[in-house]
Amino acid sequence: MDLRQVRKEYENRGLYEDDLASDPIDQFKIWYSEIEKVGYSEPNAMVLNTVDKNGSPSGRNVLLKEVREDGFVFFTNYESKKATDITTNEKVSLTFSWNELRRQVLVQGMAEKIPENESDEYWAMRPYESKIGSLVSNQSSMISTREELDTAFEIQELKWRGIEVPRPNHWGGYKVLPNLIEFWQGRQNRLHDRISYESTIEGWVFTRLSP
Ligand SMILES: Cc1cc2nc3c(=O)[nH]c(=O)nc-3n(C[C@H](O)[C@H](O)[C@H](O)COP(=O)(O)O)c2cc1C
Repeated sequence: MDLRQVRKEYENRGLYEDDLASDPIDQFKIWYSEIEKVGYSEPNAMVLNTVDKNGSPSGRNVLLKEVREDGFVFFTNYESKKATDITTNEKVSLTFSWNELRRQVLVQGMAEKIPENESDEYWAMRPYESKIGSLVSNQSSMISTREELDTAFEIQELKWRGIEVPRPNHWGGYKVLPNLIEFWQGRQNRLHDRISYESTIEGWVFTRLSP
C-alpha cells in the first residue's frame, strides 16, 4: 500500500466572498443542506477535539443534533472522557469532513452544558433501545468483558419495558459556542479556498486564508 501515490484532483467548485452569508451559522446551514442533498452518509458526524488537564488533545466523532443561532449541539455522557476534559478546559474544536463535495468546516469555541429541560426534550425523542444503552453504559470507563455490558442491557431492557425511561443525570447535551468557523473548499491544483469567520466586537468578520 503506497499512500503517497493516492492523489485526487478536485473539481472547480469555488467559494467566493460575494456568495457568502454574513453569519457563518447561516453559511453552515447552506453547506449542510448541500451535503445532505448528495446523500453523504452521516453528514452530521463531526470530530470533537478536547484537551485534557495535561494539555493532551483527543478527538472522536459525535453527532450534531441541532444547529442553533449561537451554536452546535451534541449529546453524550457527562462522565465520559470528553466531558471530563470539557470540565477542565471548555475550549473545543469541531471538524466536519464532507469529502463528497470536497469540503471541510472547522469550528473553534467553548462547550457548555445545555439546560436540563432541553436534554429531557431530546431524550424523549430517542428510541427505547438507545435510552437503555445510555443507561447501562458508563462511557469511557473500563469493563472486563462484552458479556458484562450485554447482561446489563438485558436486565435494564426487561426492567423498563412499557415504562418511560427517565433521563439519567449522567447523560445530556453540550452546545459549542463558536468564536471561529472556517470553510474549506477543495479546488484544482491544490489552490483551495479557505474562508475564516472570526467573532469580533463588531460581529463576524471573514478573511481569506492561503491554502
Ligand atoms: C459516527 C459516530 C458518531 C458518534 N456519535 C456519538 C455521539 O453523538 N455521542 C457520543 O457520546 N458518542 C458518539 N460516538 C462515540 C464516540 O466517538 C466515542 O467513542 C465516545 O463518545 C467516547 O468518547 P470519550 O471516551 O472520548 O469521551 C460516535 C461515534 C461515531 C463513529
